[in-house]
Amino acid sequence: MEPGQEPPSIVVAPPGPRSRELAARMAAVESPAFDARRKARAARSGEDQGPIVYARGRGANVFDVDGNRYVDLTAGFGALVLGHAPNAASDAARLAEGELPLALGDVYASELKVRACEAIAGVFPEPGARVMLGLSGADAVTCALKTALLATGKPGVVAFEGSYHGLSYGPLAALGFAPAFRAPFGAHLGVPVTFAPYPSSAAELGASLSAVRAALAGGDAGAILVEPILGRGGAVVPPRSFLPELRALADEAGALLVADEIWTGMGRTGALLASAPVVPDVICLGKGLGGGVPISACVGRAAVMDAWGGHGGTRIHTGTHFGSPPACAAALATLETIRARDLPARARAVGDAWRAALEAACALPGVRGAGAFAVRGAGLMVGVALADANEALAVARDLLARGYVVLTGGARGDVLTLSPPLTIDPALLDAFTSTLAEVLATRRAG
Ligand SMILES: Cc1ncc(COP(=O)(O)O)c(C=O)c1O
Repeated sequence: MEPGQEPPSIVVAPPGPRSRELAARMAAVESPAFDARRKARAARSGEDQGPIVYARGRGANVFDVDGNRYVDLTAGFGALVLGHAPNAASDAARLAEGELPLALGDVYASELKVRACEAIAGVFPEPGARVMLGLSGADAVTCALKTALLATGKPGVVAFEGSYHGLSYGPLAALGFAPAFRAPFGAHLGVPVTFAPYPSSAAELGASLSAVRAALAGGDAGAILVEPILGRGGAVVPPRSFLPELRALADEAGALLVADEIWTGMGRTGALLASAPVVPDVICLGKGLGGGVPISACVGRAAVMDAWGGHGGTRIHTGTHFGSPPACAAALATLETIRARDLPARARAVGDAWRAALEAACALPGVRGAGAFAVRGAGLMVGVALADANEALAVARDLLARGYVVLTGGARGDVLTLSPPLTIDPALLDAFTSTLAEVLATRRAG
């Protein structure tokens, strides 16, 4: 069996003693937010939510500090598109780190930054695109919102219920995933955002577009910010005409269409960009762009990005670590590998087969939709909708005990969110499908 593509091996029931000890030390020093969330989940679900602690990863496998080997169906929230190290991105970053860990940002660039920006501009579906680099997805969305204001002079944003764009202030204002995340910080959130429903079917399209039209009618919206497929919202795929319709509405209103491809981009959904063939004004990339090394990009068509120029140098957006040589080397290597191995096509083929197998395995009483609706997504961005959030937490726990790392997501928390490395061996996905079917059957029998 190829290293990094091995089935689970559970030698100590997770979380094992070493994980528990480290988790307790972590809870004593990190923000209390995460332990509070775990406790709330444990109280709600009646199950222990104690975390495992990672020791190392390889390919599609991750190992915890107690010696358990798991199949990683999360890939670092979708970022590890090439899998865990070693891979082309981590090798390139390590090499660059040895030569020049940091250049001088927007003052004196490295050659790697020049090449990375050229390569990232080349991802945009039109020639002449301009690139602004960042570290996180939230950085890229912040940049896109700033671009929209500069280019249109209009501060308003139309965003969607269920969408997630990061938690720093600009993106947080536009977060439709969990209004409760915004509420405590409302007094700081200046961006005027109107939320429209995100359509999960053709039947919901009309209401969504009417809400967007109404929001644009006021005339103060400079951007429509949209995920081509909801990621954290639970792998919700909109009808095919959704993005083209948004493109037309943005054009009519003089607003920018901003595609947040931070989760969907870089081949995850079976194409390099999920927004294709629509040409957005601005595309946000992150997560998979660096194959696990932190780098993000706001890439826009030349006419729109021109708004950042010609002002005497006052309109800048930069940061100490933006475009560091290791991050740029990782992005270059990731893009090269994605192209050389045609990972988008692989994600499409492997993902289509996997979703069909999951559909068959999950089309059982007790799973919402009992078939047609239970499994959704595109490529290797997959959601399995379960009865409710407690069921999703319990199933995720049962899967962990059997050696599969998954996340729960969806606006109601009722979805298993699966985004494995694009390089995963399909045999591991088949084994997961059988395990999930067993877990669901056992829970129903119990
Ligand atoms: C679609 C989307 N946009 C933005 C973000 C924010 O990215 P980051 O967590 O790197 O700030 C995420 C993160 O999950 C995301 O899924």
